[in-house]
Amino acid sequence: MKILSIETSCDETAVSIVEASGSLKNPSFKVLGNALFSQIEIHREYGGVYPALAKREHAKNLIPLLNTCLQEANMVAANEHDLDREMISTILEREPELATQFLDFISTIDKPAIDAIAVTYGPGLEPALWVGINFARALSAVWDIPIIPVNHMEGHIASVLMDQKEPVQFPLLALLISGGHTEIVLAKKWGEYEVLGSTRDDAVGEAFDKVARLLDLPYPGGPEISRLAGESREGGAENPVSLPRPMLTTDDFDFSFSGLKTAVLYTVKDQELTNVYKGFVAREFEDAATEVLVTKTRKALRETGAQTLIVAGGVAANSYIRKNIADMVERDVPETTLLVPDISLSTDNAIMIALAGFIRRETDTIPSLDDLRAKGNLSLE
Ligand code: KG4
Ligand code: ZN
Repeated sequence: MKILSIETSCDETAVSIVEASGSLKNPSFKVLGNALFSQIEIHREYGGVYPALAKREHAKNLIPLLNTCLQEANMVAANEHDLDREMISTILEREPELATQFLDFISTIDKPAIDAIAVTYGPGLEPALWVGINFARALSAVWDIPIIPVNHMEGHIASVLMDQKEPVQFPLLALLISGGHTEIVLAKKWGEYEVLGSTRDDAVGEAFDKVARLLDLPYPGGPEISRLAGESREGGAENPVSLPRPMLTTDDFDFSFSGLKTAVLYTVKDQELTNVYKGFVAREFEDAATEVLVTKTRKALRETGAQTLIVAGGVAANSYIRKNIADMVERDVPETTLLVPDISLSTDNAIMIALAGFIRRETDTIPSLDDLRAKGNLSLE
């Protein structure tokens, strides 16, 4: 089956077309088209994502990205035809600019050979999510193709399927680390999740971003902190900065990162922010965050006896965290198989949304469309 997928939950507008074959035990995927526009430059001057701006950018970029994807997939057959303009204007009432582009473009091409439209409906920024949802609804109405609503976090879990050759073994544990989430999730089978623990305040990616701001580093802070921390470690000097490891030894699977950020605030106050000093702070912060993530994940792996560990979400792009988790698994729970997506599939993208759509279809657990709306706080359970 060919799945068109749409992701607009945060500051990445992404569209892809993925061909899925086989069953969930032995799936294989081919990316026929993939297009992504990152709004990072646009949000940088605000030091974070600005929802109204994100919504406007999604609305502006979806049609060009869809066009790119269809071209890549060789699915564009030029053919002028009539559209029910009123219906489209009603569906895209809140996105008039998108409605105009939609009519101009979709009325000039034939319906492509697509079997389903997977779209993120949460969690994320609601104004941003709505654009993707309404776009999917308009395409679904014009082309008569069913919609599969997708949970963004399931997308992050599903991202590992892209390169997976062996069947995934259950129970499965997922450490989901992103700008909005820090969760340890247990799955006994595909599509059924139990959140064992999560952050009580800031997500780990959010902490990376906030600490970066305290160090005068640009948004998003994760990659910047990681770069400085790496340079500082290579420098070899002993680190004079020391930060806490919040909730390291608590008897649960929860996290807390806001205290760590506050500790950085007090540490850097009255300090001259030289590059060397920033490196020390970045390195100690990365060490502290990594130690907590590794320790809690090991505890969860031991207590659940999970056979597979998936580490996914934007922060999983961090090579230091990846390496420390891999070392822990090899040393302490070698019977566990570690699956981590390719770096390009760690941060937000549309391919992972298509993969999650495939999981929902194969497990016959597609959420009801009666209630299809943006759910900012959608959880995995
Ligand atoms: O999953 P994602 O792309 O968007 C959300 O769903 O939130 O994650 C974005 C987060 C940002 O907080 C960003 O700073 C962080 O992932 N991030 C990183 C790295 N690359 C991205 N954090 C640490 N190290 C990285 N290399
Ligand atoms: Zn994400």
